[in-house]
Amino acid sequence: MEGTDLRAELSRSYYVRSRTARTAAFRMAYIAYARTVAGWQLRKPTAEARASLRRRIEDLFARDWQDANDGLYPRELIDGLPWREYALAAPKLIADLPKTRERIRSRRHDELPGQAERYPRYYARNFHYQTDGYLGHTSAELYDLQVELIFGGTADVMRRRLVPPVVRFARAEGYGAARPMKLLDVACGTGHLLRFLGKALPDARLYGLDLSPQYIARARETLPRDMEVSLICDDAEKLPFVDGHFDAATNLYLLHEVPRDVRARVLGEMFRVVRPGGLAVVADSLQFRDAPELTRELRAFPERFHEPYYEEYAAQDLATLVAAAGFTVRETTLAFLTKIVVAEKPS
Ligand SMILES: C[S@@+](CC[C@H](N)C(=O)[O-])C[C@H]1O[C@@H](n2cnc3c(N)ncnc32)[C@H](O)[C@@H]1O
Repeated sequence: MEGTDLRAELSRSYYVRSRTARTAAFRMAYIAYARTVAGWQLRKPTAEARASLRRRIEDLFARDWQDANDGLYPRELIDGLPWREYALAAPKLIADLPKTRERIRSRRHDELPGQAERYPRYYARNFHYQTDGYLGHTSAELYDLQVELIFGGTADVMRRRLVPPVVRFARAEGYGAARPMKLLDVACGTGHLLRFLGKALPDARLYGLDLSPQYIARARETLPRDMEVSLICDDAEKLPFVDGHFDAATNLYLLHEVPRDVRARVLGEMFRVVRPGGLAVVADSLQFRDAPELTRELRAFPERFHEPYYEEYAAQDLATLVAAAGFTVRETTLAFLTKIVVAEKPS
């Protein structure tokens, strides 16, 4: 092996091993939390499920390293978690735990602020048993740390899997400073995917849309100040844009949280606002058919985190849903617990 190849191999192997070890540490902390605070009786995964999870995690980190190394996104993105942001959120998360625990114990998911009745019924609930559902500033502050803890430090790494297809599309179409690509992230939450896209494609014109005013406010607050992003608080079922306004659209971790008809309407709206020849990248949880050995683990998720539409989503096929909206599916990949569908709007 040449010296440069050896250095790259050592760096890759260090990255995969150290991040996998960190995930195991997060996992132990999560198990301790789940047993003592939430009172869950966790069943050990089968040997097959454990091996599958381990293989998928290592593969996820290996691809993350490789794509940074290949210049699909800057190396700084894989170097660490936003520790400062998480350190500030941690005390609030701990202070909020008793309320979440009480909701888990009593299985209450209707404790929402007064304005909640303005929102669709499927939305106005305490998803993940979190305080205020999606309708509170504290919820928006705690969301990313909670998700990172649940997924053992892999959430942002899984989110980054949407970046390479967008970057490849932008390069193939010749977008750049002279001709910026317009991209909409539908249900952008607090903006983590937009942050990665902005770093990978600094010339792109980015738009993020979410139904939660508080999550949009959090995205505004935490996205880098020099990143030009338009953030819009509105409904993905009725996108406030004219037909074909965008060159590309992304959608991440929304579809498992909405009923079947809403899922179809959101994808239909994405199809409408993307230009002919444009790109759509849609990603969400693995579905049952993707990993039969993890069926028990996937089933436990909606039970523990109040996700009433998850089971029905997991029984569907994401690529079929994207195709039903009119897109031509180009590629479907799996990345640990996430499935990514890359599609094109026919010209
Ligand atoms: C599980 S979070 C995912 C957020 C983000 N994409 C991420 O990667 O963390 C689901 C998001 O969908 C938003 N959402 C749900 N229904 C929506 C709708 N009809 N229109 C726009 N956003 C919606 C919620 O407010 C929430 O921010």
